[in-house]
Amino acid sequence: MTAVPPKTAAELRRAFLDFFAERGHTIVPSSPLVPHGDPTLLFTTAGMVQFKPYYSATGEVPYNGRAASVQKSLRLTDIDNVGLTPRHDTFFEMLGNFSFGREKGSYFKAEAIAFAWEFVTKVLDLPRERLYASVFAGEGQLPRDDEAVALWKKVGLPESRIVALGRKDNFWGPAGGRGACGPSSEIYFDLGEQRPACVPADAFWGESPGDPGDRFMEFWNLVFPQFDAQADGSLEPLPRPGIDTGMGLERLSLILQGVDSIFETDVFAPLVAEVRAQSSWWDTSTRRSATGDYYDRVRDARGGAPLLVKDLLRDERIIADHVRALTFAVAEGALPSNEGAGYVLRRLLRRAVTRGRSRTGLAIDHAFLSPIVSKAVEIFGVHYHELVEHKDRVLRAIAQEEANFAQTYEAGVGRLGEILATGITKVSGEDAFLLHDTYGFPIEITEELAREAGVQVDREGFERAMEEQRARARAASKFAHGGGTEAEPWTAVSEGADSDFVGYATLEFHGAKLRRWRTRGTKFEIVLDRTPAYPEGGGQVADQGTITAPGIWATLTHVYREDEAIVHCVRPEQGTRGELLAAGKAGALSVHIAPEKRQPTMRHHTATHLLHEALRTVLGEHVRQAGSLVAPDRLRFDYTHFEAPTAKQLARIEERINGWVLADRPVEWAVVPIERAKSLGAMMLFGEKYGAEVRLVSTEGVPEAGIVGSRELCGGTHVSRTGEIGAFWLLSDSAIASGVRRIEAVCGLEALRHARGQDALLQRAARVLLTSPAGLPEQLERLKNEVEQLRKEAEKQRAASLKQQLRQELANSTKQFGRWKFAVMQVGYRVEMKLAREAADDARDSLKDGAAVLILPSAAGSTWSLVASASASATNELGIRADEIIKSLAGITHGSGGGKPQMAVGGTKDESTLAAAKAWAWDYFASVASPKGEGEEER
Ligand code: SER
Repeated sequence: MTAVPPKTAAELRRAFLDFFAERGHTIVPSSPLVPHGDPTLLFTTAGMVQFKPYYSATGEVPYNGRAASVQKSLRLTDIDNVGLTPRHDTFFEMLGNFSFGREKGSYFKAEAIAFAWEFVTKVLDLPRERLYASVFAGEGQLPRDDEAVALWKKVGLPESRIVALGRKDNFWGPAGGRGACGPSSEIYFDLGEQRPACVPADAFWGESPGDPGDRFMEFWNLVFPQFDAQADGSLEPLPRPGIDTGMGLERLSLILQGVDSIFETDVFAPLVAEVRAQSSWWDTSTRRSATGDYYDRVRDARGGAPLLVKDLLRDERIIADHVRALTFAVAEGALPSNEGAGYVLRRLLRRAVTRGRSRTGLAIDHAFLSPIVSKAVEIFGVHYHELVEHKDRVLRAIAQEEANFAQTYEAGVGRLGEILATGITKVSGEDAFLLHDTYGFPIEITEELAREAGVQVDREGFERAMEEQRARARAASKFAHGGGTEAEPWTAVSEGADSDFVGYATLEFHGAKLRRWRTRGTKFEIVLDRTPAYPEGGGQVADQGTITAPGIWATLTHVYREDEAIVHCVRPEQGTRGELLAAGKAGALSVHIAPEKRQPTMRHHTATHLLHEALRTVLGEHVRQAGSLVAPDRLRFDYTHFEAPTAKQLARIEERINGWVLADRPVEWAVVPIERAKSLGAMMLFGEKYGAEVRLVSTEGVPEAGIVGSRELCGGTHVSRTGEIGAFWLLSDSAIASGVRRIEAVCGLEALRHARGQDALLQRAARVLLTSPAGLPEQLERLKNEVEQLRKEAEKQRAASLKQQLRQELANSTKQFGRWKFAVMQVGYRVEMKLAREAADDARDSLKDGAAVLILPSAAGSTWSLVASASASATNELGIRADEIIKSLAGITHGSGGGKPQMAVGGTKDESTLAAAKAWAWDYFASVASPKGEGEEER
């Protein structure tokens, strides 16, 4: 190949995708970093994650058997190594080619190895003598991969550069603990004997691929997925064995750009530079490393212990890495939070802030993440357009989280400092919990800071404290169910399974048998063998209804889940508790669910799924459910999205849903193995735990309207056709937290009721305004103008009378000195500034020769306006200037102000100085008007 080998990251991405496209691969865009539809993974950890179902599924082979991608990935396994080694990071881009099964178009080991070798030696033009490959050496039942050895030899790699390694190195997967996995073969690059500056002279640099040194750097992993890992860890043959390769873009850049670490490549160097620009340590000459050596000590200008350049560089790199990861995740709609992926993001952000602010490190004393985020958007936005599209909200969300943490950071670090200063050898679990709970320090950060001080953290004690807190929260919520009273222990009545929920199919169940009962204060709770009563959960409210038996009638006041049991709170209305227990023991209870509550609840629940789909279609795939409430009278749906949707978008959402309702599509549910649900692309929500079997609720779409359909994992109750929803009416959309919005809506009869209510309001308004609803806008416009007019007139009158009053008061407080008249006056009531000026003008005119000072409370309250005016004659003959007066008054009152010789305005907040101001003004007037000590005379 004669073309110049690619070098920059952009050229590498292009060259890789072109190479595989030319070889029949479909180029598939990166899937989200925070994956939908795979509850086993918080983040996408490899290129194969989006293709995972294809290795297990049967049916048509996707992409004609061949795909290639550049995948956004994030792994936390190496987080502690970031900044310490040349090659570790958390977020990375993975170049990968994939093949599924043995169908036409698919390929396996021979082609995968040949493609890789050709790309590496021809396109990248890497020196062959520095390339090595590892193969699986076999372990336990799994045989050695001799086939791979032969294939490597066939392409031209000498046997001396092929090493066989065990399961730890050369068996990959499965991602997320289950599914496709298999032996692998990795390509290594020998970085040479000369170690980079960041590897200490006494550290092991490396002798052969697979050893713990960094010299032989693995950069391309060719996996041959053949097994389907089961939940118990056993390996079954994979229905569709294939190829899954992954090459780290950052490592490849390191090799091709000839630099010492990934942080010096074009994907990272500008980010590191941006971090450095935020810290002043680098530029302070007293703290500069004398020789520029990585291991030099630099003097700390603050008089602390000397710092190692390497530690400062490490922190810069950690920040660059973590902020880059955050930028990508937040651009997709993920947000820092206390759970799941959100917790990881919070931890990354807080670690970056901690490293940046460390007083013995970079010592950045201001919010500093935004410029780094902007730089990441600039570098990666060219390939990942979502970064550019969502730049503003990414900046906002990250800056806000940074500000939140910065608020408690100093206090937390101070507290930790005090704890460490007590000379302990281990930070107690309670202290770690306090730092977590009060100051927002993720446990990993406390551990890291403690480790730097040579102290451990009692992790178990911390987990215990966390568990206790959770238990307290659980107790509090049970307390809430019981209306604030502890429950008595259960009394068993009959043996056998309990709480079989039959409410999907029926609202009435006869012959229910009592399993156990207990009391909680005045409340009475029972558990049945079977029940149609839906326990509050998944956002859906509890069913209402009654429990009856001959001569017995009881109201169901609440239904909730406690562990696996469905607990019914019942209040006997007819018959006693004892009679109800006896009927229950005999299996003679009937449970009736109130259809007038349940049916509208089902409408609202199915509508919630349609809404979820519509939001993702209209606003974008980043939209995620953040909470919901499904009740008989309304639904509430919280979702992640940053801007307020436009009126047009809301209208589209509403129309899409109503179109779906009118199309009357079937809604079906089935209990399926979770793998199948995943391969069907069901929406799953983070934070929810799923068993091996899940309930999948599918709503058929309306293909002609571009609605593919909705699939969600959901335990709630649903209508059986969308038509039963009747109508969907969007009531409101509002922001409830940064990046989280809330939609409220009503369906069915509630929508009708709402519409009717709105109509009644309009009718009433029209009656009051003596017009028809259609005439309302015009009538209101007219009235508004009229009110405006009246207000203006009233204002004018008020101003006139106020002016009159001011004039009068001014006249009363005027003193005459010969031909000169002066007034100094403080008013107790509020006067707008415009009026105050007019009054001062007025004063000047009426005084003719003289000057006036007015002090008035400002219209806004809590401050005082100072107004001075002087006649031209006073300025010319006595040198009295309004602006000079105000300047002096500003000095006396600790205020401010200025203006012209004839008119000037100032203000103060200090009421206590006003008396002094007035006294000064009188003294001043007296002194200029009678310089020779002429006595003043009353007017
Ligand atoms: N799944 C393998 C890895 O992540 C190859 O893509 O290394």
